[in-house]
Amino acid sequence: MLHGWQGENPKKPGAPHNVRLYSIASTRYGDFFDGKTASLCVRRAVYYDPETGKEDPSKNGICSNFLCNSKPGDKIQITGPSGKIMLLPEDDPNATHIMIATGTGVAPFRGYLRRMFMESVPAYKFGGLAWLFLGVANTDSLLYDDEFSKYLKDYPDNFRYNRALSREQKNKSGGKMYVQDKIEEYSDEIFKLLDNGAHIYFCGLKGMMPGIQDTLKKVAEQRGESWEEKLSQLKKNKQWHVEVY
Ligand code: A2P
Repeated sequence: MLHGWQGENPKKPGAPHNVRLYSIASTRYGDFFDGKTASLCVRRAVYYDPETGKEDPSKNGICSNFLCNSKPGDKIQITGPSGKIMLLPEDDPNATHIMIATGTGVAPFRGYLRRMFMESVPAYKFGGLAWLFLGVANTDSLLYDDEFSKYLKDYPDNFRYNRALSREQKNKSGGKMYVQDKIEEYSDEIFKLLDNGAHIYFCGLKGMMPGIQDTLKKVAEQRGESWEEKLSQLKKNKQWHVEVY
């Protein structure tokens, strides 16, 4: 994670703004394999008044707009990285990694997948399975789709990629297609992979977790398993990784 920010805190005159956290979307080598860049996946937070439906710029996200308005060459104060939850465990290069993302939550997975499929690092030759579920509103809001589609073409045995386009596709009950609907669709395979030690990661909207937990619980029950027990086992084995906001 990075803390990206500068300027004066409007609530505390003279004090800097509070630190904002962003997931890093590149590996330690950056995007050009020279260790000199770090990528963030930032969405401009725009506030719309729920009553009038009009934009209220005074309530727009300060840091996301600052970052999105910055120009090449601007100096930006950053600190970090911090936190270890989303570090890719590299002890087993043949492990299975199931990644569930909504929107900009795809950031850490974009880094993982570069590490697995794009960078040539002797210490980490990925030979396992990486499976990405990405939930976005529509085709236009897909992120890094070119990179992911290329991995799919080049590494069909090691990469799977499923998209949930909430405003373009319907789930089986006729509602919006969300990542949890895709998880349900592939639940048999996912449960088998988890039983065999797969890591599962969630990154993105906090709101996705209750729906995902309900889906996993329902699937576990259909399989005659207790989700609570399974979840505590996954956590104990360090297979369960969550970073939501
Ligand atoms: P939608 O906004 O159509 O309801 P965002 O772009 O706001 O980060 O959202 C990324 C994706 O996550 C969108 O497709 C959004 O759908 C979807 N989403 C919103 N709420 C949930 C939820 N509770 N569970 C799963 N996906 C969600």
